[in-house]
Amino acid sequence: MSDDLLKQVPGPHRMVTGSELSADQDPEILSLRPDYLREYIGQKEVVETLNIAIEAAKGRGEPIEHVLLHGPPGLGKTTLAHIIANELGGGLTVTSGPALEKGGDLIGLLTRLETGDILFVDEIHRTPRAVEEFLYPAMEDFSVDFVFDKGVHARSHRFRLKRFVLVGATTRVGLISAPLRDRFGIFRSLDFYDESDLVRIALRSAELLELEIDDGGARELSRRSRGTPRIVNRLLKRVRDFSQVRGDGRITQDSVIEALQLEGVDARGLTGLDRRYLRTIIRYYGGGPVGIEAIAATLQEESDTLVDVVEPYLLKIGFITRTSSGRKASEEAYRHLDVATGTRQRTIF
Ligand SMILES: Nc1ncnc2c1ncn2[C@@H]1O[C@H](COP(=O)(O)OP(=O)(O)OP(=O)(O)O)[C@@H](O)[C@H]1O
Ligand SMILES: [Mg+2]
Repeated sequence: MSDDLLKQVPGPHRMVTGSELSADQDPEILSLRPDYLREYIGQKEVVETLNIAIEAAKGRGEPIEHVLLHGPPGLGKTTLAHIIANELGGGLTVTSGPALEKGGDLIGLLTRLETGDILFVDEIHRTPRAVEEFLYPAMEDFSVDFVFDKGVHARSHRFRLKRFVLVGATTRVGLISAPLRDRFGIFRSLDFYDESDLVRIALRSAELLELEIDDGGARELSRRSRGTPRIVNRLLKRVRDFSQVRGDGRITQDSVIEALQLEGVDARGLTGLDRRYLRTIIRYYGGGPVGIEAIAATLQEESDTLVDVVEPYLLKIGFITRTSSGRKASEEAYRHLDVATGTRQRTIF
């Protein structure tokens, strides 16, 4: 069956396409995304900054300054880009740094933007340097210089662009060049959510999915979600399945604990990869300090995955520290693994 045909087939048949839907494209997860700032839970300061900027810009009848959002995966950067477009009533064009291979790719997108439109560039730190150079005049003067032909025949033409808003998102602000960073008027970092915000997100998502969840269930889910709304939503769906099959459909503290044990998510929300990462430091490298490349090689994982996905939360909860000579596991990490891995392995440490 061709892809086109499959798209017309409603319901679970979509599952047979073989191209796995990324978690964010799952229609059910998409439906949980807040559309306006007033629905956005947590990140008070970021929301306040954006509220003021949007209101002021609306009052002046002009678009807001360019926005750079930084933070670990799943905290709401893409969501905020959608919200900014909704609040301003502009169109949204979505791309990502690695997708912009040539200057022409970017110019094609830029010249199609209308006044007040939003261009969202995800993973902006991975934009090739040559493409990045086109972004500077586009962001600053709303123009791009396009060079036709090569050598002696080269002619340059300046395109005027409409006043658009660039929203950049990155998990690695340190990899963004200073000239690019300086061209953003608004720069905010998203931090992990605290438990009370995650509880509100869990309750909101449960309501949208028409699930019955009690306070104990919402709290347990929040404690196990690594401070991350995306994980709340993902685990909520796992717990829903579990409660439906093994229980009466209601989500309680007990059903969350049982369901997440099956998923390998422990009481602190750590996954199998988190625990393997910690064990590698502790067992192979005597607790550290050890460089990230050595850990990645031992685990056979990409070091980028470890730096972007695994480490930020472990740093946040104080399970590891980063020193100039590498990563170190904290005493709390030892204690946690001891409990999590049971008495049999205690002798190994
Ligand atoms: N403040 C919030 N309130 C409710 N739900 C939220 C909030 N922030 C994020 N979410 C939910 O979490 C999911 C993940 O958010 P989002 O896709 O915006 O993360 P991201 O920061 O762009 O991640 P990545 O770096 O992986 O692209 C969204 O689908 C959304 O439903
Ligand atoms: Mg995103």
